[in-house]
Amino acid sequence: MNQVERLTWLEQVMLDFYSERSVAPRLVETILYSVQAGGKRLRPLLFLELLEGFGLSLTQAHMQVAAALEMIHTGSLIHDDLPVMDDDDYRRGRLTSHKKFGEDMAILAGDSLFLDSYALVAMSELPSQVRVELIAELSQAAGTFGMVGGQVLDMQGEKRSLTLAELQDVHAHKTGKLLAYPFVAAGIIVGVEEHHKAVLREIGEWLGLAFQVRDDILDVTASFEELGKTPKKDLVAAKSTYPALLGLQEATAYLEMTLDKVVSGLAALEAQSSFQADKIREIVEGLRLDG
Ligand code: IPE
Ligand code: IPE
Ligand code: MG
Ligand code: MG
Ligand code: MG
Repeated sequence: MNQVERLTWLEQVMLDFYSERSVAPRLVETILYSVQAGGKRLRPLLFLELLEGFGLSLTQAHMQVAAALEMIHTGSLIHDDLPVMDDDDYRRGRLTSHKKFGEDMAILAGDSLFLDSYALVAMSELPSQVRVELIAELSQAAGTFGMVGGQVLDMQGEKRSLTLAELQDVHAHKTGKLLAYPFVAAGIIVGVEEHHKAVLREIGEWLGLAFQVRDDILDVTASFEELGKTPKKDLVAAKSTYPALLGLQEATAYLEMTLDKVVSGLAALEAQSSFQADKIREIVEGLRLDG
């Protein structure tokens, strides 16, 4: 199955979920506005590539887990852009949710996306123990101990300059945990042994850190057209970021170092198991910014 077919299937799963019943049409319109705005779909694509790397054929159930992850991520972006948070006007190349539908609808659309995702995992045709583990890990990655916790650290950090260790902790939580979820979830579904689960989580967490460092760098270096969101937002808000703390050159070197950790983790996993890392490696290499 090629990338386009995969993405079409993923979109269909999300669309079907919201087309099934209707309670508040305006809410569904608000949700779909953000869900269908595209985005890179990095998290679900990683998850699907990981499953295939372990030799599985993709099923509707896998797509439902992928959709759940993308929905939580999309909800996090809607809330991240709110005036009380990063106050952004553009996302994924269009007006932010609150600019288009108002803050009340944007908050509620985010709430829906966070909560609905669990139904998708719960209703997927996977063994019940697998579903329970997937749900527990998703909550850990997204909630108080993951993305939401990290967003609070990010907001608190706006008022002062963070140390590098503090910033790493912010990034590890606000972005790292959800980006590690594809690795953790694939391990659960494949049923890898505990040791390999830990290796997968560690690879995912390095990738998550790398991805937020990259996002910090792109805030400084990329254009609106490239990002689909307002550039130099972190600069204007005087946020603690890797380029702000280290300078652009050192931040880029740090990104390289974290991506190297991911690549060596993948190689180790490949050597120890039947996992084929080629496709994941390609995605990871595509995140480099050093030319
Ligand atoms: C943006 O994530 C927010 C961060 C965690 C850095 P993405 O860069 O994956 O956003 P989309 O999904 O492609 O819009
Ligand atoms: C967002 O980090 C992390 C989330 C949990 C959404 P940023 O605030 O840097 O993301 P962008 O730059 O707005 O996409
Ligand atoms: Mg933010
Ligand atoms: Mg932001
Ligand atoms: Mg950013």
